[in-house]
This record gives sequence, C-alpha cells and structure tokens, in this order.
Amino acid sequence: MSEQKPREQWGTKLGVIMAVAGSAVGLGNFLRFPVQAAQNGGGAFMIPYFISFLLLGIPLMWIEWAIGRYGGLFGHGSAPFILNRLWKHRVVKYLGVIGIFGPIVVFIYYTYIESWLLGYAFFALTGKLLAIATPEGMKGFLAAYQGLAPGSNIWTAYIFFLITFALNFYFLYRGVQAGIELLCKIALPVLFLFGAIVAVRVLTFGAPDPARPDWNVLNGLGFLWNPDFSVLTNANVWLAAAGQIFFTLSVGMGAILTYASYLKRGDDVVLSGLTAASTNELAEVVLGGSIVIPAAFAFFGLAGATAAAHSGAFNLGFVTMPLIFGQIPLGEIFALLWFALLFLAGLTSSVSLAEPAVAFVCDEFDLDRKTAIRRLGVVLFILMQFPIFFLGHGVVDELDFWAGTFCLVLFGTIEAVLFVWVFGIEKAWDEMHHGAEMRIPGFYKPIIKYVTPLFLCFILGFWFYQQALPLLLMQGVSPEARPYVLATRFGLILLFLAIALLVRIAWYRKKAQGKVE
Ligand code: PHE
Repeated sequence: MSEQKPREQWGTKLGVIMAVAGSAVGLGNFLRFPVQAAQNGGGAFMIPYFISFLLLGIPLMWIEWAIGRYGGLFGHGSAPFILNRLWKHRVVKYLGVIGIFGPIVVFIYYTYIESWLLGYAFFALTGKLLAIATPEGMKGFLAAYQGLAPGSNIWTAYIFFLITFALNFYFLYRGVQAGIELLCKIALPVLFLFGAIVAVRVLTFGAPDPARPDWNVLNGLGFLWNPDFSVLTNANVWLAAAGQIFFTLSVGMGAILTYASYLKRGDDVVLSGLTAASTNELAEVVLGGSIVIPAAFAFFGLAGATAAAHSGAFNLGFVTMPLIFGQIPLGEIFALLWFALLFLAGLTSSVSLAEPAVAFVCDEFDLDRKTAIRRLGVVLFILMQFPIFFLGHGVVDELDFWAGTFCLVLFGTIEAVLFVWVFGIEKAWDEMHHGAEMRIPGFYKPIIKYVTPLFLCFILGFWFYQQALPLLLMQGVSPEARPYVLATRFGLILLFLAIALLVRIAWYRKKAQGKVE
C-alpha cells in the first residue's frame, strides 16, 4: 500500500525556521497588534503582552515543536493522531479535531482578508487609492471594495480573492519543501525589507503639522513603550494580550504541530522554536510597532489614532495608513510596499493554516498530496463563499472569535496539559531536548509544568466567567445580524462534527491496518 511512502520533510534547518516564522509573521503582526495595543492602552498592554510571551508563547512554541516532531515519527501530521500518541484515550482524538477545525475556519476568512491586501496593493499602484483624501472617502472605498456600500458590488474583490486562493494552492500543491519552504525563504526576507523601509519612513515623519506639535512620531512610540501599571488589574487587558500572543505566534492552532511533524528525529526544536518566536516578535514589536501607531499619532494625534483603532479592526490598516501615504511624497511607493508586505505576510501564514487539513488527509487516508489538495481545495473554496458573501452580517467576527480566539486558548491548554501532565514533564523535557542545540534554562521546567497550564486555565476560566454567557446569548448583536450569527454557529458545529466523523473513519481504517491503538 502507498502508506509505505516516506512522509515529506523540510529541506534545511533554516528552511523550517523560515516556514514557522512565516506562519507566525502575518496580518496579526501588522494589523491586529496595533489595534489591540491601541484599544488596550498602549504601554498598559505591553506588560501583560511580554509576560504572556515569556510564560505562554515560548513554552507553547517548544511544546508544539516537540509534540509535532514526536507525532511525525509515527507518520502522523495532524492533531487527532498526534495527541493520541501522548495519551491513548479514546476521547483524545476528538479533542484533536480542534487542531484541524480551527485552522480551517481561520483559513477561510484570513485568506479573504489577505486578498484585500493584494487588491489594495494594486490600487495603490494605479493611484486610485491615494487619490482619496478624506477619512469618509477612504472608508467608503473600503466598503465599496467589500461590496458593502450601496450600489457597490463584490466582483473586484472576488477577482483578487481568486488570485490569492490560486496562489495559496499553488504553493501547497508544490509540497512542503518545493512549495511552502521555498515561498517562506523568499517572502520573509522581502517582507522584512519592505517593513524596514516603511518603518524608517514613518519614524522620520517627525511632527508633520506645525500647528499641532504634539502630533508626532515620538508620542506614538511613547504611547506604546511608556509602561503603565495602572490597568494591570484589568483582566480584559490580560485576555487581549494573551490572545494576541497566541494569534501572532500561531500557537494553539495546530499549524506548528503539523509543520513540526515534517522534522527529522534528530532535528533541533529548542533553538529553532526560539528563533522562530523571536523573529515573529521582531516583526511585531519592532516593525509592527514602528509603523501604524507612530504614523497614526503623527497625522491624527492620540485621540484620532485610538478612535480609529476602536472604530473597526481594519480601519487603521486600510483607512488610516493609505490616508497618510496620500500626504507624503512618493506615497504610492510606500503604500505599495505596505500592502505588498502585508500580502506576503498573509500568504506565508495562510498556507500554514491549510496544512493541518492537508496532512490529515494525506497521512490518515493515504492519499498523495496532490489528490488530497485538489479535494480539499474544492471544500475550502466552497466554505470561503460564506465569509465573502456574508461579510456585512457579522459572520467574519463570529468566525474570528470562535476559531481565532477561543479555540486557540482551548487547544493550547489541551496540548500543554497532555504533554506536561499526561505524557509527563520528565519525558516531555527529554523529548524537547532530543537533538537540541541549546538547553532550556532550568527555571523553565517549573514554568512549563505549573505556570503555563495554570495561566491558561485561569484565562479560560476568566473568559468563561466574564464573557461566555453574554456572548452565547448574543448580547450586543443587532437583531438584524442575529439570524446570521446563529447560522454561522450552526455551520461551525456542523463543520466540527463533519471533521470528527472523518477522524473516526480514518481511525478505524488505521486500526484495521494495525497502525493505531
Ligand atoms: N500568526 C498569524 C498572524 O500573525 C496567524 C496564524 C494563526 C497563522 C494561527 C497560523 C496559525 O497573522
């Protein structure tokens, strides 16, 4: 049978680090991070942010690399089957369903947003975008692009969506080494270069309006970097910071698990995981933190910048930034670099969101990659029509909440508890250090054993206590949007059940082959 064929593997050590960093560096770094920081008080946000990075982000990065590599040894690349190697309990594979479901759901809206960036890069180039000079005009342009403004239609956006979808599947189709690894090895340095150019330009804005000297870049940097201890007791800021760490590092999703399953047994995970995580933080706090917030402060001041952040998740990136580029010399070029860098960052992330499903189908149904991708492509294409055509009805927010926020923390907790408590910290510690090029400092052992899982349980518990009920009861959702939100939730449950059923079928197939216990 074809299952004898060896699994795919990464080509080089640098290649796998670039692939994981490519997954991590994404829209989260340049669009989500500034919005989260501005909404949660800037310097007040950064303290829980860094604490979450050290206590959740880095440990989960190591945990996912180690578990993924371990599962790969047994020929498994997706969460249901990998987690089962840690604990052979019959429910474990169903917990692992989250590690396929979550990435698929994020993929279907993330890739659509990614395609807007391609569209915006195009309109930056044609000059159409920067010809708009007012915030109302720019918001109108975005709404028209999304097909939400009266009299507008979706077809321009749809064309860019088709191109983006095709590009994603092109790289996925080419495989782990010749597709994903190659893409990330090229796209990551390019986007860092573009990011550096845009950041340097922004940092030299100074105070563009002589009448308003306090509207300047330095105040933007100060907003982010002057620590503010006063809101540290506000649990919402902690939730937002931990959520951002998960999202930006791609941990708790299943994506890194799958990427790590293509490692070889002797490959290092400690230094590589740390390098990938640090690369992401460099992109997030140094590049991401030097672009949107300082630029918005220089042109719109504190009040304008925070108002834009509160007015919608996309306004800073898609409205404020092009307005600013419209006011500077060579603005088209900088706008093009900005949207192109975002598009590349998105592309290297979205392929990683599709990969867990690809690995599941290939490994557990013994399909070759190309067949698996063709079939999956059809399914994902159909699913993507929902966020595209129901964008205005709260569907994307709903998908983003359940898959992009809730599942991440839930699945991260499951992984951490299974690895550290069920598999056992001593075995886990050895597993992480197998082939390691550096040792994890000893004080991380109690952190990984106690602090990380407790912190995660605390976040989940607090979320449940504070937000679950109002959310489930759809408080704050307009009556008009309710049927759509309900339908989305129903659709999500169906999707989850469908994946669980496939896992079950695959399970019995593998059992009949004597491949799982
Ligand atoms: N880390 C990506 C970003 O910052 C998003 C992502 C999350 C990708 C989870 C894969 C898995 O945009």
